[in-house]
Amino acid sequence: MIRKIKNYSSRSHKGWGRSLFLTAVLCVGLLAGCGSSGSGEKGTLRVGVALYDQSDTFISTVVQDLERAVQETEGEEGLKINLSVADGRSNQTTQMDQIDQFLSRGYDMLCVNIVDRTAAAVLIDKAQEAGVPLIFFNRQPVAEDIQRWDQIYYVGARAEEGGILQGQLVLDAWLQKRQTLDRNGDGILQYGMLEGEPGHQDALLRTEYSVKVLSDAGVEVEKVVSDTANWNRGQASEKVSQWLEEFGPSLEVLFANNDDMALGAIDAFQEAGAELPLIVGVDATAPALEAVKEGTLYGTVLNDAQGISRAMLDLMLALVKEEDPEQAVGLEDGHYVWLPYQKVTQNNLSDFLEGYQP
Ligand code: BGC
Ligand code: CA
Repeated sequence: MIRKIKNYSSRSHKGWGRSLFLTAVLCVGLLAGCGSSGSGEKGTLRVGVALYDQSDTFISTVVQDLERAVQETEGEEGLKINLSVADGRSNQTTQMDQIDQFLSRGYDMLCVNIVDRTAAAVLIDKAQEAGVPLIFFNRQPVAEDIQRWDQIYYVGARAEEGGILQGQLVLDAWLQKRQTLDRNGDGILQYGMLEGEPGHQDALLRTEYSVKVLSDAGVEVEKVVSDTANWNRGQASEKVSQWLEEFGPSLEVLFANNDDMALGAIDAFQEAGAELPLIVGVDATAPALEAVKEGTLYGTVLNDAQGISRAMLDLMLALVKEEDPEQAVGLEDGHYVWLPYQKVTQNNLSDFLEGYQP
């Protein structure tokens, strides 16, 4: 059984007894007339959730966590929250149509995992025109767009922090077992980099900061090869199979911007019967935690899916209750809720995997 640390969730749950009661009362009061433009039931919060691509492992986890959090809230407090989930299938035009539909049906709030981060302005203007608060998550629009309207929010983790923690995992390993890691004994760390989707803040900043941690610490690094595999396990496995033919054992460390690509790399090494280098990912998905347990994946960085979904729900409730989101969910700079990343290796795996004994 997989159990993730609920950093955000446990914090936010504590003060909930009274405020949830208020929510229940206020929701019914505030939303009684809300559904008038659509088929809305009385006392129901109708939320449109637009995903960039539902087949993405991490995103599907966030949605499942959000659905679970909503059910728990409804079960506990008798609230009615309707989530409508739309899959953008990596197409911004498709996603725009889905959002137009949510708005024309009179939905109360939008949660958007935008396909193309640079297309946010159009969407924000539409939401503002309709007076519907919009929470972006995981795919971060630029600050100028977020600031277009005070009812625009972003819930996610700081991309550079993910990179820094991943770099620290490798730095610790280099300091502890340099003899084994430095296969060719030249004192230089030869690495490969599997990058996420081009233009995604997490791909850009994790790539930059992971390596920066090492060079800032005085470790000499050499990039052997890097390429994008679009967050995807199959694409990563294909790429790394080619790398293995070309660069073979010269790869001492493999950074992957996410776990799916790290697992794809492991697939490729295992298929080729080649010795695994030190591989690190980001996300702490269930299969990645299993790989850490087996020792094929050296480490990963928790991208807090539960925290993100819980924070989105709490933010929506705060908006409904007309509570100050700064107090309710720790909103920063008027627009942002940040969830912390966490390093995961075999040393602390028991915090994440139930029943695991080091
Ligand atoms: C995750 C990736 C995911 C991407 C989708 C990133 O934060 O680490 O696994 O594919 O978001 O936008
Ligand atoms: Ca070396």
